[in-house]
Amino acid sequence: MSAMEKIPSPPTGQIVSQWSGIAKEQAVQRMFTAIAQSYDLNNSLLSFGLHHRWKRLAIKAIPPMETGHALDIGAGTADLAMLLHERMNNQGSVAAMDLNGAMLKEGLRKLTKLGLTPQISCFQGNAEQLTFQDNVFDAVTAGFCIRNVGDIPKVFCEIFRVLKPGGRFVCLEFSRPLSKGLRALYDWYSFHLLPWIGTKVAQDHTDVYRYLPASIRAFPDQQRLAELLSHAGFQHVQYRNLTGGIVAIHIAVK
Ligand SMILES: C[S@@+](CC[C@H](N)C(=O)[O-])C[C@H]1O[C@@H](n2cnc3c(N)ncnc32)[C@H](O)[C@@H]1O
Repeated sequence: MSAMEKIPSPPTGQIVSQWSGIAKEQAVQRMFTAIAQSYDLNNSLLSFGLHHRWKRLAIKAIPPMETGHALDIGAGTADLAMLLHERMNNQGSVAAMDLNGAMLKEGLRKLTKLGLTPQISCFQGNAEQLTFQDNVFDAVTAGFCIRNVGDIPKVFCEIFRVLKPGGRFVCLEFSRPLSKGLRALYDWYSFHLLPWIGTKVAQDHTDVYRYLPASIRAFPDQQRLAELLSHAGFQHVQYRNLTGGIVAIHIAVK
C-alpha cells in the first residue's frame, strides 16, 4: 500500500458531519488533487454552467472598491479571485489562498495566461490557521470551500480576525433547496447522475463525486450557517438563495 492509500477515504454515502478534523482534511485534499485538472470542465458540466452566474452574483455582494486588499479562501482554480480583481476595478490586490497545491497550480496557470499574476497572488495555506495579520483585508470571499474544511467555526473566526472592521465576508455554498419537489429532484441528480458524470470526466477513483452530495447534505442549512457566522462575531448577517436554495450567498460584516 502506498503512502497515499493510507490516507482515509471519505465514508461514501454517509453523513459527513461525523467526519471532521484532520481525517476529513486529508481525504478531501487527496480528492482535490485527483480532480484538479478536470475541475473547471466538471464544474461547468455538472452545474449546467450555472456556477459562473452564482460566482458573479456572490462578487456583487462586495461593494466596488478601487484600492485595498481582498482575500479569496479555498480559491482553487481562481475564478472568484479573478472576479474580485474585476470588482476592484482591476486595481487593489487580491490573495488567492488554498490548501491544495494541485488546485492552486491550475489557478496560477490561468492567472499567468491572463497576465494577472502581479495583481493576484497565490498562497498555499490552511483556512483554519491563516498566516495573515489581523485587520488587513477589506473583503474576504469563499466559494464552495467552507463545506470542505475540518472546523467551520474555527475558519469563521480566522476570517473575522483578518478582516478590517467594517470589512465584508461573502460565502457562496451549496445549501438546502427550499421546496420539497426541488429537494427530491436535486437529491436524485446529485446522488445518481452527478457521481456518474463527474467520475467519468475526471477519471477519478477517489470517490470525490460521491463525497460531494454527501457533504452538501451534511452541511448546515441557510439559517444554521447564518447562526455560525453570528457566533464568530459577525454582524448584519444575511443570506440570499439562488436557484431555489440549491446554493446560498451569505454576507457578513465585521
Ligand atoms: C470545491 S473547491 C472550490 C474552488 C473555487 N473556490 C471555486 O469556487 O470553484 C474547494 C476548495 O477549497 C479548498 N479547501 C478545502 N479545505 C481548505 C482549507 N482548510 N483551507 C484552504 N482551502 C481549503 C480545496 O482545496 C478546494 O480547492
